[in-house]
Amino acid sequence: MSTEIKKLIVLTSGGDAPGMNAAIRAVVRTAVHYGIEVYGSEMGYCGLVNKKIYPLTQASVANCIQRGGTILKTARSEKFYEQSVRDQCRQFLLSQSINAMIVLGGDGSFTGASLLANNKLSVIGIPCTIDNDIVDTEYCIGFDTARNTALEAIDKIRDTAFSLDRNFIIEVMGRSSGFLAVDVGIAGGAEIILTPEFPMSAQDMLQKMQKKRRKKMSSIIVIAEADSPGRSLNIAAELKQLSGINYKVCILGHTQRGGSPSLMDRKMASIMGAKAVEALRQGQSKQMTAVNHGVITLVDFPDPDHSTRYFSDEELLRLNEIICEI
Ligand code: F6P
Repeated sequence: MSTEIKKLIVLTSGGDAPGMNAAIRAVVRTAVHYGIEVYGSEMGYCGLVNKKIYPLTQASVANCIQRGGTILKTARSEKFYEQSVRDQCRQFLLSQSINAMIVLGGDGSFTGASLLANNKLSVIGIPCTIDNDIVDTEYCIGFDTARNTALEAIDKIRDTAFSLDRNFIIEVMGRSSGFLAVDVGIAGGAEIILTPEFPMSAQDMLQKMQKKRRKKMSSIIVIAEADSPGRSLNIAAELKQLSGINYKVCILGHTQRGGSPSLMDRKMASIMGAKAVEALRQGQSKQMTAVNHGVITLVDFPDPDHSTRYFSDEELLRLNEIICEI
């Protein structure tokens, strides 16, 4: 079944993720291909609240596939939590004959989108977060670039750690889930990987490190920031107090959110962007593009109360311990 989409609006919401621009480009170009007019909302939902929207053409998205961040800008709009504000936004869109919307963002952004959608306004989401932690999709745009950015940093730190026989804690992002920490930890050769799902006391960490330090003079621990960015400074202080061993701390922070998107993020974002437009044309709404067993598909928006995907494959941590046992 095909639904007539008159005009479509695209927006980016929440934290930016590398690859968002590639998705915007694909949305605009696919929509134009099907004869749909496209608008962009400035700064996520704020653009709807403040009526700051503007037309996008094939030319407006030229030369952005390789750029990090988002050309539409993004924000977290507190006002959008109010139903009366959402009603005004819906009215505004319909008054402009815009009857379809594509939202690039995370689970919070999709909750907003789901509450905005009705039988006159269809909404599709594209999952974007470097944390890769949205349920019902194996992949979120931005994750691959972020893990490669973090890995590059770890490789650099490894050079200096080796040269001076030093120990390092490298803190990566990951508010609730350890996907980023696990991937960069394994690929970067970290002796210990700490995720929000599998916490470890400083005592336990030391016990593990002491076994390894019989032969090694330098070491790397990768820690997910969890909900306390900078927590690795406290962990380093605790390790020092308990063992006398110095751990230098490097917090990668927002460097992981920026930069030119990787091949994988550009490709995923492009295909998801095109699929999102086609889904709207087929009459779908309140769904997001998703990767399921490696295939890009569509699934319902996550249940807002269970929208976070957690890292659970403890086996990866066990095998990494064996690899780093020397
Ligand atoms: O959700 C992605 C993420 O980068 C988290 O890892 C981090 O906790 C959070 O965003 C920080 O976002 P901001 O600094 O934009 O509030």
